[in-house]
Amino acid sequence: MKLKEQINLYIEDALANASIKVENISVSEAGKPEFGDYQFNGIMPLAKTLKRNPREIAAEVVSCIDTSGLITKAEVAGPGFINLWLNDSWMSEAAGRMLADPRVGVEKKPYPIKVVIDYSGPNMAKEMHVGHLRSTIIGDTLSNLLSFLGDEVIRQNHIGDWGTQFGMLIAYLEEIGLETGSKNLKDLEQFYKSAKRRFDEDAAFADKAREYVVKIQSGDPHCLKLWKKFIDISLGHCEEIYDKLDVNLGREDVRAESFYNEKLPEVIKALEEKGHLQVSEGAKCVFLEGEEIPLIVQKGDGGYLYATTDLAALWFRAEALGAKRISYVVDARQAGHFKQVFRVAKESGLVGEDVLLEHIAFGTMMDKGGKPFKTRDGSTVKLVDLLDEAVIRAKEAIKAKEEYSPAELENLARIVGIGAVKYADLSIHRESNYIFDWEKMLSLEGNTSLYQQYAYARIMSIFRKYDGEIGQTIVVGNEIEHRLVLLLLRFSDVLERAAKDAAPHQITSYLYDVTTLFMRFYEQNPILREHVEESVRQSRLALSALTANVIRQGLSILGIGVVERL
Ligand code: ARG
Repeated sequence: MKLKEQINLYIEDALANASIKVENISVSEAGKPEFGDYQFNGIMPLAKTLKRNPREIAAEVVSCIDTSGLITKAEVAGPGFINLWLNDSWMSEAAGRMLADPRVGVEKKPYPIKVVIDYSGPNMAKEMHVGHLRSTIIGDTLSNLLSFLGDEVIRQNHIGDWGTQFGMLIAYLEEIGLETGSKNLKDLEQFYKSAKRRFDEDAAFADKAREYVVKIQSGDPHCLKLWKKFIDISLGHCEEIYDKLDVNLGREDVRAESFYNEKLPEVIKALEEKGHLQVSEGAKCVFLEGEEIPLIVQKGDGGYLYATTDLAALWFRAEALGAKRISYVVDARQAGHFKQVFRVAKESGLVGEDVLLEHIAFGTMMDKGGKPFKTRDGSTVKLVDLLDEAVIRAKEAIKAKEEYSPAELENLARIVGIGAVKYADLSIHRESNYIFDWEKMLSLEGNTSLYQQYAYARIMSIFRKYDGEIGQTIVVGNEIEHRLVLLLLRFSDVLERAAKDAAPHQITSYLYDVTTLFMRFYEQNPILREHVEESVRQSRLALSALTANVIRQGLSILGIGVVERL
């Protein structure tokens, strides 16, 4: 149910009845209870054109607002705003429908589109780092969100599996033997260092490495086999992380850089035909108006670049996959790259006008001291270790609360720990740098996943204590219930907005508001106590159930689980 849209319709009707034309009617949430529930402030800009007093127009519109349904009261306020109050029984009914709906009142889009979401994208020659962690977490959430709203989401893991380093790496893999290689590759950083050492120390090895680069590129079966093996092992390690993180990214979503190799000459040809290419110092470039530095698409020696592959990928995604929205969840430091690549793709017609291209940029992960995230000895943090630590710390945080069996505790700790890592990342504005702080992310107070999970479990415990059928009827009976129901009815609007802005933090802020308000409602409105009238009890139980459904569904979009007991 799109609450805002429904209120807009009431205003639209009122304006039509008052014979006033306004485009793009949009009410907003009232900031304070005394301003009602929603506010319409589209009158003021009108007053000028109409040469009339805004309060006068507002009064006229107010007199035309139908107050027999969703809206119960409308008032002129300030210099010409209209404050709106929603009707409790209308809200009660809407909440009841939401409670009965397995999709928690969120309808699927009537016109879904195909969306490609490019995320994670680790490089196979390097250890997956914290930047890829952010991309994976944010990208997975956006994929969940858009597909929940009905779009056809195509997840694409654009792994870096091509480049000259692979000559050295596969030569080394061959030298130490596949068996040992598989084991050693567990630490890619170390493996890389050892290969590099061999390369620097031994001229014969270096020659072989160079020869292998040429051989992979020309499709030599032996070298390709080694290369495939290397990628396979490397990707396997990434998948270990995806597993721990519980993200929906499988082998079928991998479309590696190398996939586009054969399309690269076609990209150059297409650009050439459009007359977009210029040769500068031997390299083929595209100059863009207003940009000093051109986009190089082919080097003097014939080699292609990261950008060429991205152009091929854009082309493929728009043409072959039919995507109408292509979203790149990549570190903000690549903003310049994407800006150029998107422009070239559009201006050259590789991608049609009707396709939305967006760089979903995110900031750097910092430690508590505000420095880029590193281990104590200054090396990069291994993601596997980080995620394992999250689970261990989660165990510490929850152990004291209840009696769990070891298996139960293990499972809980995983849900709580991984949830905390994800939530902490998602709950800040993605473009800000993000400070990684264990204590904060595993805190029971504040805007954390643990707080949400705890509230959810709290509601479940109410249900456990109440042995009886829980009704489906919600009756808004007081001010705080009114506010809680109103907030819950906004769920669909919040998701839609977050999808449009590609902003998961809008969902976390919303869930935090829901949980906080629920806790206050619960303090002020006894549910199970004897003196509570049965019909009131039933309504409050139903309202608690609806709250739980919103929390569960919201967290599930964020890729975070809930537990029954905590
Ligand atoms: N492998 C790249 C990196 O680690 C990220 C890939 C992002 N996706 C893309 N289509 N360029 O920086």
